[in-house]
Parts: sequence; structure tokens; C-alpha cells
Amino acid sequence: MMQAKSFAKTLVMTIIFVTVIVELVDVSEESGEAKSWMKTCEGLEPAIENFRQYLRIPTVHPSPDYGPALRFILSLAGSISLHPTRLVEMVPGKGIALLTWEGSNPSLPSILLNSHMDVVPVKKEEWKHDPFEAVMEENGDIYARGSQDTKCIGIQYLEAIRNLKSQGFKPLRTIHISFVPDEEVGGGDGFAKLISSAVFQSLNVGVALDEGLASETETYLVTNAERSPWWLEIKATGRPGHGSSLYANSALENLMRSFEAIMMFRSSQFDRVKAGLSKEAEVTSINPVYLKAGGSTPCGYVMNVQPSEAEAGFDIRVSPDANTEVLETLIQEQWAPQSRNMSYKFIGKAPKSGRTAANESSPWWGLLVDAVRRTGVVLNEAETRKSTTDGRFLRNVGIATYGFSPISRTPNRQHSTNEFLNAQEFCKGIRVYEEIIKAYTSYSGL
Ligand SMILES: *[C@@H]1O[C@H](CO)[C@@H](O)[C@H](O)[C@H]1NC(C)=O
Ligand SMILES: *[C@@H]1O[C@H](CO)[C@@H](O)[C@H](O)[C@H]1NC(C)=O
Repeated sequence: MMQAKSFAKTLVMTIIFVTVIVELVDVSEESGEAKSWMKTCEGLEPAIENFRQYLRIPTVHPSPDYGPALRFILSLAGSISLHPTRLVEMVPGKGIALLTWEGSNPSLPSILLNSHMDVVPVKKEEWKHDPFEAVMEENGDIYARGSQDTKCIGIQYLEAIRNLKSQGFKPLRTIHISFVPDEEVGGGDGFAKLISSAVFQSLNVGVALDEGLASETETYLVTNAERSPWWLEIKATGRPGHGSSLYANSALENLMRSFEAIMMFRSSQFDRVKAGLSKEAEVTSINPVYLKAGGSTPCGYVMNVQPSEAEAGFDIRVSPDANTEVLETLIQEQWAPQSRNMSYKFIGKAPKSGRTAANESSPWWGLLVDAVRRTGVVLNEAETRKSTTDGRFLRNVGIATYGFSPISRTPNRQHSTNEFLNAQEFCKGIRVYEEIIKAYTSYSGL
């Protein structure tokens, strides 16, 4: 009897307590930061839901399943009545969604808005929330792999078009939106295939926007060039001998001499950065990534033999302003000279990326800067990107391409733990794309 009574009392008190907490939560939602994202996102709640739904599709390497992502994108395109919509599959299982909003003058060069569907792997246990749940915290922060890189822009492009269509806006130029696979693994089965296809030729692209970088300040970042990766393997051979003998030109001695030359070059570039003469993305970087030499036994390395072969790998990122002939000569004559019994090969060697004009010589630049300014945000001067994106394929064929993601006031967590985007930044970005799309598709010059 007593027990039942006290249980009932506890239950009543628990209910009262829970009610108080619920009320407190309600109050806090009305205040401060929470209020500010809700205001910016007024009317865009379905866009946030579309974003979160896309984030929950685990298109994650090493084995992304693109099917569900493509179906989701095509269904969104259907909800906006975008047509034609095309599913281009040049490599089995690696489809590309190509959506089009035709302008009133389709003979003018078109606009391309590109994003990739794949995301880099995660270490789930290091995340605050499951990286494929797209949990949204009370302050509007949406946590998910791909929230910055690049599922945000993919959805923002479409939501901006949805809004422009409902406002009755009619484009003069045609606009295409592409969703590609495999950017995070070099784009070989993705954008590289698209750019060399007949279907791409038929799009007649005049200017493209592709992914950019998150900015921690109030202003937006934009890139107009990127460095090209050259992955270099160098090998040295030399006379094997006893570990106790001093003799010249062992394989390791030959390789070490290359290291000295390479490290000298590395310092010359790094010193420019340290002295503030160049930004990191503007110099040519080189870093050793592996070393291989020596003989091993089940008990460890052989300690008394100088090996006959030694090898090292380097990740070189070639500045768009570098003289590549000079660099090749350096490799041939100093880093891996035949005269020192050395050889080299490229495991990967991207052509030098072009630089898209980001000054008064390009109307696309001025239109972009003005469109962003109309939304109350300043666009930084264009910079070179340290790493690579699909944008390089476009620049290599001479198409003006800006790397731009409308993300400000956000720590750059691309490829790192707890990647997130605040709903306010996401919603603001939709408005930014509305302005850009209006400006680009209305431009009658060129
Ligand atoms: C290169 O290899 C040859 C043949 O083994 C050898 O005679 C020569 O001394 C080596 N030169 C250097 C610089 O290692
Ligand atoms: C504009 O930028 C391009 C590409 O960086 C450059 O080649 C050109 O000289 C610049 N033009 C002007 C007027 O600054």
C-alpha cells in the first residue's frame, strides 16, 4: 500500500518536473542563436529536410552506393519540374545526374553548377553524432559527413532554382546542374569521363561553379585555380655490401643525396610561405610519403647488409604558376639522375591547371561579386586552392570555373571529424545562389 502510494507521488512529481523542462526548452528555442537561424530559414524548412535526407544517404568511400543518391536527386528534380533530367552512366554503378533548366535563348553558352555525391570515410566513434544521421542541434548546427563537402551546394542549387521558378523567374541562358560520383578518389570514373563525353560537348558550358572552401570569417572564399598533384616515385640502385664496409654509391647513399636536393627545394618553397611572400597554395610543395629499403627476416630487418635497392615516394603539388619544364629538369638531373643509378616514374601526374580570370577582364567575375554583395556578404579575392577538385577538368578545357561554397563563419571541417553546417548558413546560401543564378542566366553578353 505504502509503496504504491509513494510510487504514485513520485510519478506525479516526475510529470511536473518533465513539464517544467519542456517549458524551459521552449523558452530557450525562442531566444538567441536559435531564433536567428529560424528567421533566416523561414519558408525554407522543406529545403533543410531535403538537405538532411540527402546527408543520410551513405555515399561513402571506399564503396559508395550511388543508386539511392541518384534516385533522391532525380525525385527532387521532378518536384521542381526540371527537365530534361538525364541519368548518364558511363561506368557501371557510377551514374551522373544531369539536370537542365532551359533558357529562352538556348544557343547562348550555358551555366553549369557542379557538385559531387561521394564523401570521404569517417571514424564514427570520434564523432559527436552519427555522421549519417544528420542530427540538427537546437542552435541549427547540422552534423554529417558531406554537410560542407559537398552535399550542401548540391541541394542549395536545386532549392534556389525551386524558389526562382516559384517567383516566376525566366532564365535567358540555359542552366545545367550536375551531380557526379568519385570526386574524392580523383574523378577518373566521374567528372573525367563526363568532360570527354559527347553529352558534355552538347551542353555548351560557358561558365561553371564548383565546390569551394568553408570560411571561418564573415566573408566568403572563392578559388580560381588549383595546384596539380604529381605523385613521384624514385628508385636508387647500388652495390650491395657488408654493413661494416665504407664504400661509395650504395643504393641508400644515392637515395639520400636525392633527399638532400629535394629537401633544399622544399625549403626554398616553404621559406616563401614562412616569410609571408606567398600563400601556401601558391608555391610548389613536396613531401616524402614513403620510404622502402632494406631486407627483412621474420625477426626484423637485416642489420649488417647495405641493400642494393632503395625507393621513396613524394607527393608534389605543382603551383599553377610553376614552370613545369624546369621542375621536370630538376627531377631528371638532381632528384633521380641516371648518373647516380636512379630512375623515376610518375604514379600520377595531372596536367597544369589553368587559372580562371578573376578580375575586370571577365564578366563572370564581376557578376559573381555583385550577386554575392547584393545578399550582404563580401566575396574575398580569388585564391589558388591547395588541393584538387573536379574544377580542374573544366579549367583544363578552358571553361571559366570558380570554386565557391557559400559557407562563412564556419570552421572548415571538410574531411575531418564533426563536419557540420549551420542551418542559417545553409539557408543564406540558397539566397546567394538565387542571386547568382539570376545574374548569370540573365547575362546577354559573350
Ligand atoms: C652505377 O651502377 C654501375 C653498375 O653497377 C656502377 O659501376 C656505378 O659505379 C654506379 N654508379 C653510381 C654513381 O652509383
Ligand atoms: C586577369 O586575370 C588573368 C588570369 O589570372 C590574367 O592573365 C590577366 O592578366 C588579368 N587581367 C588584368 C587586366 O588584370
